[in-house]
Amino acid sequence: MKATAKAHTNIALIKYWGKRNEEIILPTNNSLSLTLDGFYTETTVALHEDYTEDHFILDGQPVVGEQYKRVTTFLDLIRKLAGKNIYADVRSINNVPTAAGFASSASGFAALAAAGTKAMGIHLSEQELSRLTRQGSGSACRSIYGGFAEWRMGKENDGSDSYAVPIAPVEHWDLRVAAVILSSTMKKVSSREGMKRTVESSPFFDGWVNSIPKDLEEIKEGIKARNMEKVGSIAEANCLRMHATTLGANPPFTYWHDTTLTVMQTVKQLREQGVPAYFTIDAGPNVKVLYLPENEKTVEKVLREIPGVTDVRLSKSGQGVTYI
Ligand code: PMV
Repeated sequence: MKATAKAHTNIALIKYWGKRNEEIILPTNNSLSLTLDGFYTETTVALHEDYTEDHFILDGQPVVGEQYKRVTTFLDLIRKLAGKNIYADVRSINNVPTAAGFASSASGFAALAAAGTKAMGIHLSEQELSRLTRQGSGSACRSIYGGFAEWRMGKENDGSDSYAVPIAPVEHWDLRVAAVILSSTMKKVSSREGMKRTVESSPFFDGWVNSIPKDLEEIKEGIKARNMEKVGSIAEANCLRMHATTLGANPPFTYWHDTTLTVMQTVKQLREQGVPAYFTIDAGPNVKVLYLPENEKTVEKVLREIPGVTDVRLSKSGQGVTYI
């Protein structure tokens, strides 16, 4: 009747960008990510026979509105699976700074799916849990696993074959990520709205989708061989291609700020000085930098010195979902 789970967020090296079904969240391409140790959500789901609705407390504050609705709609899926009509008290602690530009929805929905199913007495395989989690937030389905994970888009219209699979565990490779946080704030185009606009109107969208299979195949070879240059350069090019689709949308948009470009240039300069570092960027202005442990001090120092950068948060690769 009560369960607690912890899940980490993840950073995509091959991006998920575009849906073919918005309701049950089916993507237009496979994606691949690294789960991050530094950023996580811990969620407790407790069932209450006497409740007439769900309660959701995030970091000690009751949540209402759209965010509450996403949680109860997701709990409805679990209730349906369990065949139980019982409401829950959901309490989450988020250790994902919103300002870091990580979707807390990835760790949030992975932890909610794990704690929710356990509280309802449902036993799911990791694959089944990933498929369920996908319906809360697409990128969250990759956070079920530690290390590197690939979300296979699947072919079916009912989503039965759309879930993530593990590619390499945490122990395989100590690849690190620096989250570079920028001071500037701007009204954000949500990933949901950004994808929709891109799919519907960007002439570059087909080029993006067609470029994925090669990127995926090569990055997986690179991960297997722990080849930083290969993995980093593919991740960087894939990110640039994703962001290029937004410039072709109608109306056009970009997630980048002036400091975003400065960070990108600084990463390139680091490489010219012999430090293997590569960037990737999600649906926001902040930049994530991939680097190796032996270069941590240099990378952190150089990134912190960039005007307009307010913080740099370092992370190792993290474990998949755990029950507490
Ligand atoms: O799952 P969402 O709605 O948070 O979308 C994530 C989209 C990107 O972060 C830009 C890419 C990705 O694969 O995580």
